[in-house]
Amino acid sequence: MNYNGRITNRSCYWHEVLKRIPEDRPIVGVEVGVWEGNLSGKLLAARPLLTLWMIDPWQLTKTGWASRSQAACDVAYRRACEVSKRYRGRGRILRGPSQEVVTEFADESLDFFYLDAIHTFEEINRDIEAWLPKLKPGGWYGGRDFVDRWYGVERETYRINAAAGVDRTWFIESVLQPA
Ligand SMILES: C[S@@+](CC[C@H](N)C(=O)[O-])C[C@H]1O[C@@H](n2cnc3c(N)ncnc32)[C@H](O)[C@@H]1O
Repeated sequence: MNYNGRITNRSCYWHEVLKRIPEDRPIVGVEVGVWEGNLSGKLLAARPLLTLWMIDPWQLTKTGWASRSQAACDVAYRRACEVSKRYRGRGRILRGPSQEVVTEFADESLDFFYLDAIHTFEEINRDIEAWLPKLKPGGWYGGRDFVDRWYGVERETYRINAAAGVDRTWFIESVLQPA
């Protein structure tokens, strides 16, 4: 796979995601790690031609962000469902871990994927490997917080050499597919 993309980083992460979603044509994207659907709701509201797959297990995990309690996950899931209902047909929930749910997508079917789930170096690598074939040529991917201090994983460099922004949002744009 060719990673010949332009790497950018900036603050105010949801605006940064939004500006990469065109307004003038149908776009299909994935948000991996949704929690209450705050970002999903903002994107869906601002981009009426966007169909967004909202992917999250909403389950207690050892390493995941949602390691607080299952009750908290359940509340977050209900809130995400409300967001999904508000944008009926365009905000599509898939409940399950990234690595399982990814198999439901056809190759080269997505305009973008955005990773905001488990932020460790290893998991982000796994997610990129899993989701990259699902991107259309010219699509983009990105995420948040690849340098993760919460789990004791401090990587000052990443193999794609993405530099962290103020809020540690990163992007790869114009991903080329293999020749
Ligand atoms: C930081 S929150 C997401 C916030 C959301 N993107 C936003 O901006 O509003 C991280 C989420 O990742 C989810 N998560 C944890 N493990 C996951 C996995 N294997 N696949 C997908 N999501 C996962 C957690 O349940 C949690 O909801």
